[in-house]
Amino acid sequence: MLSKGSSVGSSVGIYIFGMTGRMGREIRSLLEESSDAVFVGGTSSTQSQGDITAADVLLDFSVPIPLAATLDQARALAKPLVIGTTGLTDDHFSLIEQAAKTIPILQASNMSFGIAVMTQLAQLAAQLLDVSYDIEISEAHHRHKVDAPSGTALSLGEAVAKGRGQSLEMVRVDGNRSGRRQAGQIGFSVQRGGGVIGEHSIRFMGDDEILELSHKGLSRRLFARGALKAALWLKDQPAGVYTTPSPLPTF
Ligand SMILES: NC(=O)c1ccc[n+]([C@@H]2O[C@H](COP(=O)([O-])OP(=O)(O)OC[C@H]3O[C@@H](n4cnc5c(N)ncnc54)[C@H](OP(=O)(O)O)[C@@H]3O)[C@@H](O)[C@H]2O)c1
Repeated sequence: MLSKGSSVGSSVGIYIFGMTGRMGREIRSLLEESSDAVFVGGTSSTQSQGDITAADVLLDFSVPIPLAATLDQARALAKPLVIGTTGLTDDHFSLIEQAAKTIPILQASNMSFGIAVMTQLAQLAAQLLDVSYDIEISEAHHRHKVDAPSGTALSLGEAVAKGRGQSLEMVRVDGNRSGRRQAGQIGFSVQRGGGVIGEHSIRFMGDDEILELSHKGLSRRLFARGALKAALWLKDQPAGVYTTPSPLPTF
């Protein structure tokens, strides 16, 4: 059973793991302007603040290491959990599956609606274009980002591999390569620098044409808004794992 009645007034109470980080600060700033939701507390690497039991939804924008403890806490308190932290491993995904038997969990490496649309378009393009089109995924992020390729680039890679009926693990190649390109590979390249919020592109390169899908995040507000929208939606969902920040039509 999910805990009920913890809303602060009529606002939805939000607790943030990673409240002092770039994303944590952006979400808190958004909450200050929101009439739908309110910040009730959170954690950093060294401290916690506020009361987690006053939360209706927990948001995690931190690092992968404490995720197992975060999942235990969410499950013990029966609180829905939105996970935006990237760099997760297969072990983390197994723990998420396990916890989602009793609570709703939304895990998305990118909270932007535009990226959710791009992911579907990428899968469709990979399905329609044959294997003679070489696929390259590029991403750029600010100099502080620790994981690479980004979680979003990997999710886009999974979508194109799925469109081709392949497993990404079998066809993924990273970084600069010498020698002739092998048919069917999905390549990743990464740039880190400056204050770049997040840029992703997928190129389908044929002999006579290139189809390109690209997305640029212009402000961190984009992800904060998506995370908040996801939180408001998730609090009314049954237990389970959700992977898109808002329900999208499927085609
Ligand atoms: N899903 C999306 O749309 C989206 C968008 C942007 C970013 N992200 C991801 O969100 C995560 C956070 O990004 P960010 O740019 O906000 O990072 P950041 O600025 O480095 O902030 C990290 C936060 O996690 C806390 N933290 C660090 N180590 C910890 C530990 N061992 N235990 C508990 N808390 C710890 C930090 O606390 P201190 O301040 O004490 O160090 C800080 O509050 C990253 O994985 C990033 O890739 C996702």
